[in-house]
Amino acid sequence: MRATTDLDGLGLDDGGHLLVQRALEPLRPGDRLTVTGRNPALGVHLAAWCRAHGHRLAPAGDGDENSGPLEIIKGAADERRWRDARRAGAADGPPDARADPRWGLAARGALVEAGGPPIGAEWTERDHVWADIAPRLSAAAAASQWDPATAVNWPASIDVPPEIERAVVQLMTYLVENEQAALIIPARLLSQLHPHYREVMQLLATQTADEARHVEVFTRRGLLSGGPLGTSSAGGRASLQTLLAEPDFTTASFLLSVLGEGTFVDLLRFLHRHAPDPVTADVARLAVRDEARHVAFGVAHTAHLARAEPSYLGVLRQSVERRHAALQDTAGLNTEVFDSLVLLAAGSWEPAAIRRGWHAVRDLQAQMDEGRRRRLAYIGFPDDEAAELSALHTRNFM
Ligand SMILES: [Fe+2]
Ligand SMILES: [Fe+2]
Repeated sequence: MRATTDLDGLGLDDGGHLLVQRALEPLRPGDRLTVTGRNPALGVHLAAWCRAHGHRLAPAGDGDENSGPLEIIKGAADERRWRDARRAGAADGPPDARADPRWGLAARGALVEAGGPPIGAEWTERDHVWADIAPRLSAAAAASQWDPATAVNWPASIDVPPEIERAVVQLMTYLVENEQAALIIPARLLSQLHPHYREVMQLLATQTADEARHVEVFTRRGLLSGGPLGTSSAGGRASLQTLLAEPDFTTASFLLSVLGEGTFVDLLRFLHRHAPDPVTADVARLAVRDEARHVAFGVAHTAHLARAEPSYLGVLRQSVERRHAALQDTAGLNTEVFDSLVLLAAGSWEPAAIRRGWHAVRDLQAQMDEGRRRRLAYIGFPDDEAAELSALHTRNFM
């Protein structure tokens, strides 16, 4: 097959190679392309370009390289380059069951030239990271981002009795350390996830952004009355540390999102209900909306894997037991946090009020337990096992 292309006055140093490349594309190796043009450097530049791209250049007819038309004999390098290329799954379809590390950072659905560096991702199997709800949750998460500077009614007056304010500050101090753990865990999972599962990658990215906002607003509320922050207990931090140490994607997501953040949803609703000022109510309300999404993914993903591999329920069970055993000798929840919850719900130091507050916190704990059992049952645990595992959950709530 023969073809011709005319570059007119265009040189290869002005983009002329695009026309040559376009004309070569439909040709097979060994086919000839006649190139004409008026640019004085065309012959020299074309010779260099052909060498770099594996083609041969010859004068066409009786011309020479410095005058008259030139002829390119197409080489095989291009064809060889793409011979072993594979598509990285389908861009608009569901992700593949196994993501090939050799796809590296290629977009899902891209034609991947062989030979690039493999990605060192740990999570390359769909069932171990996926939930069918991930694309929808990811879109909802992107649409629900809020600005900490304007979403909270910061100028509202904080007319809170000093002792109640101290309880609020203690709770905010506790929330911040929990939010920091909740930020680090999805960030770590994200860094080891094969990007082929892009909806999960996007979801984890918004989740870390959510937690960063929670850290911001809880810190800001804690400092609003100008005082120092409250205390951080060794037992509370030890409990969170066990979450950071969890190496498996699904058990980390299970312990953090299903059990921890699930429990936190009830805690934040409690804070919202008993908030002594509009700022505390705002920050609790905004955070709980985000947390509901984190819980939804954790539950959906864990249920997805348990359906695909029913024996995984045993792995999840062991992760709760292991964590319980590791924390057995620690206090779990900071007592000052517990007392602050009672005082917040009481609203004053009147004995009758304290009794009300105490019972409100007991009701909260019962509600947390019920929620955990419901989620565990949804994932596939029989009711008695769900009750047992819920009871083993950390006293630190998260
Ligand atoms: Fe959070
Ligand atoms: Fe969260």
